[in-house]
Amino acid sequence: MKFFIDTADIDEIREAISMGMCDGVTTNPSLVAKTGKTFKQVIDEVVGLVDGPVSLEVTTTTYDEMMSQARELAGFGDNVVVKLPLTPAGLKACQTCFKEGIATNVTLCFSPSQALLAAKAGATYISPFVGRLDDVSTEGMKLIEDIVTIYDNYDFETQVLVASIRHPQHVVEAALMGAHVSTMPMK
Ligand code: G3P
Repeated sequence: MKFFIDTADIDEIREAISMGMCDGVTTNPSLVAKTGKTFKQVIDEVVGLVDGPVSLEVTTTTYDEMMSQARELAGFGDNVVVKLPLTPAGLKACQTCFKEGIATNVTLCFSPSQALLAAKAGATYISPFVGRLDDVSTEGMKLIEDIVTIYDNYDFETQVLVASIRHPQHVVEAALMGAHVSTMPMK
């Protein structure tokens, strides 16, 4: 299983790389804001430092605006993965990115049916949020089990990127279920 580090903090990423634990990085606008740096500064630092995929999120809600941001973000490096929301407009953008060869991480997945839609739209990664489901008394890891089964049943190439991980046991369970990636905070 690949480990992605869920941070925009360059020192944390360096630390993870030095331990051989950074197969990639996921960011979001909140994580970028925490660094006190601009989005552009973070992109320049992180995309160059990390060998693996770096997820950078669009900040718009319409298809046209998402595609405009997606093309711009993809231009920052071959390892950029464009993070898109799991909305109808996001799925349309996902399908266009697939046709244009832009890697995508379709995020904020809370159900197996959403994961099925993202895979059919050509998502490179699907990000189910296990901790957020646990927060509302729903078993987050059951969602991972279901998505892994569905994707295996139909040989979808979309990789399961377990997100909103809150503790090491989430990672162990994800590995037992055969999820492709866990993204987690450095701590
Ligand atoms: O990987 C998604 C993450 O940034 C959100 O995590 O713990 O705030 O639900 P959390």
